[in-house]
Amino acid sequence: MSKTGPLLTFDILTLFPEMFVGPFRESMIRLAKKKGLVKIQVHNLRRFTLDRHKTCDDKPFGGGPGMVMMAEPLFKGIEFLKARRPGAKVILLAPQGKKYNQREAWQLSRESHLILVCGHYEEVDERVREHLIDAEYSIGDFITTGGELPAMCLVDSLVRLVPGVVGNKDSIQHESFQNGLLDHPHYTRPRVFRGFSVPEVLLSGDHKKVEAWRKEQALRRTQERRPDLLKEHRKDH
Ligand SMILES: C[S@@+](CC[C@H](N)C(=O)[O-])C[C@H]1O[C@@H](n2cnc3c(N)ncnc32)[C@H](O)[C@@H]1O
Repeated sequence: MSKTGPLLTFDILTLFPEMFVGPFRESMIRLAKKKGLVKIQVHNLRRFTLDRHKTCDDKPFGGGPGMVMMAEPLFKGIEFLKARRPGAKVILLAPQGKKYNQREAWQLSRESHLILVCGHYEEVDERVREHLIDAEYSIGDFITTGGELPAMCLVDSLVRLVPGVVGNKDSIQHESFQNGLLDHPHYTRPRVFRGFSVPEVLLSGDHKKVEAWRKEQALRRTQERRPDLLKEHRKDH
C-alpha cells in the first residue's frame, strides 16, 4: 500500500457500473489499486434519481429520435462527488470534446481527482455541459454507445502514468507518441522463427548501434504511418 494515499483518484458516474468490473480487475489497473497508488470508485447514476423507477432519461424537447439524459440526476451526482472531493476536475466523455491523446494524458495525470461523467443515449442535457463540466474529451472521431468505454480508455492511459505503477519507467518514455514518434519494432526469442530472422543488429550487443537502428526505424515507421506526427516531431527536435 502507498503510505501517502492514492496519487490519483477517479470517480466515475455511469448508468452501467457493471461494465467496469472486468477491465478494472485486471492487469495494470488491478496492480495500481492493489499498491494503493490509485483509487477508482464507480457510481451508479440511478442512485441520484428522484422517482421510484429511477428514471435518468427523457424525450428531447423539440422532438427527434432517442432519449436525453436528464439534468437532475447528473447535477445531483456531480454535486455529491464534488462535495466529497473539492477541487476535482469534472470531465465529460463526449465525441464533441477535445481529441484525447498522449499529450492530454500527461496534462491530466497532474490532477489528483478526476470525476468522469459517462453519457449515454442521444446526449446529456446541455445544461450539465454548460454548468458543471470542466473539460470534454473525445477518444476519436467515431461514436460509441456510451461514455463507459471511452472512460475506461482514459483511466487506463492515466493509471500507467502514475509514478510507481509501471515498473520500468523507461518503458513509458519509449512508447509511441512520447517524443512525437511511433515506437520501433520489437522482437523476442527465438532468433529464427519459421525461417524469419531477427534483425542482426539486435543480436550484436552494440548498444549504440541498437539505439541508432531503433531511432531510424521509429522515424521510418512514423513517416510511413503517421506523417502528421513527424511534422510535430521536427518542430520540437
Ligand atoms: C451515442 S453517443 C451520443 C452522440 C451524440 N448524439 C453526438 O452525435 O455527438 C452517447 C454517449 O457516448 C459517449 N461517446 C460516444 N462517442 C464518444 C467518443 N468518441 N469519445 C468520447 N465519448 C463518446 C458520450 O458520453 C455520449 O454522450
